Amino acid sequence: MGTRPQSAHNPAVDFQTPPQALEPLLPYLRPHWHIWEPACGDGNLANTLMDRGYKVTDTDIKRWGDQCVDFLNPKECRNILYHYDSVWNKHEDRMEEVAVSARVHAIVTNPPYSRGNMDGFLVRCFELGLPFALLVPLTALEGASKRIPAYVEANPRPQVIVMGRVRFTTPTGLQGMDSNPTFGVCWLTWKLGLPHDLMWWHEGDLR
Ligand SMILES: C[S@@+](CC[C@H](N)C(=O)[O-])C[C@H]1O[C@@H](n2cnc3c(N)ncnc32)[C@H](O)[C@@H]1O
Repeated sequence: MGTRPQSAHNPAVDFQTPPQALEPLLPYLRPHWHIWEPACGDGNLANTLMDRGYKVTDTDIKRWGDQCVDFLNPKECRNILYHYDSVWNKHEDRMEEVAVSARVHAIVTNPPYSRGNMDGFLVRCFELGLPFALLVPLTALEGASKRIPAYVEANPRPQVIVMGRVRFTTPTGLQGMDSNPTFGVCWLTWKLGLPHDLMWWHEGDLR
């Protein structure tokens, strides 16, 4: 519980999510889950999840969190996703590593917002098949069905919690009322079992 101190690594160069933004999601994250925060940045979301009692693996493409992992590179992700065992492949007469069980149950993050990266995160999340929640700008939903076939083909359907404007900590350190968000965001979720496909968080401007 809350064992990790706030990150002491490089100062953040990306926008960091205030912990309160997790509130609407928490009822849908099962208590026993091991959650992967794959773009953890300064660790706001990962630390909050740990404080709430979740087992968390936090990684980032930069040297933050537990490990440096490019979420868009399947090879780099394999050890985060599965436990492996060495087994004898009698056909090829050699030992090989085989995934024996899943390590993580769900993915929760605020991904990078450049279009290519954000779509890449979405595609990867659908490919992995795990329940996920990505905090994305509302505009990310525009045209998503064209850019990301899984968005419409996925079963069950993706579900959305509209958050409105979240006061992210800016790369220059502005936070709370000093941070002036210019766009609304939503939690784009899949397989979390929300009671409705479209929900609204009624806390107004998140501080
Ligand atoms: C908007 S910040 C969010 C940080 C944190 N998730 C939060 O909510 O406070 C996005 C993060 O994504 C990371 N990132 C960008 N591309 C990535 C990739 N391909 N794999 C993993 N992390 C990546 C960046 O280094 C940055 O820390």
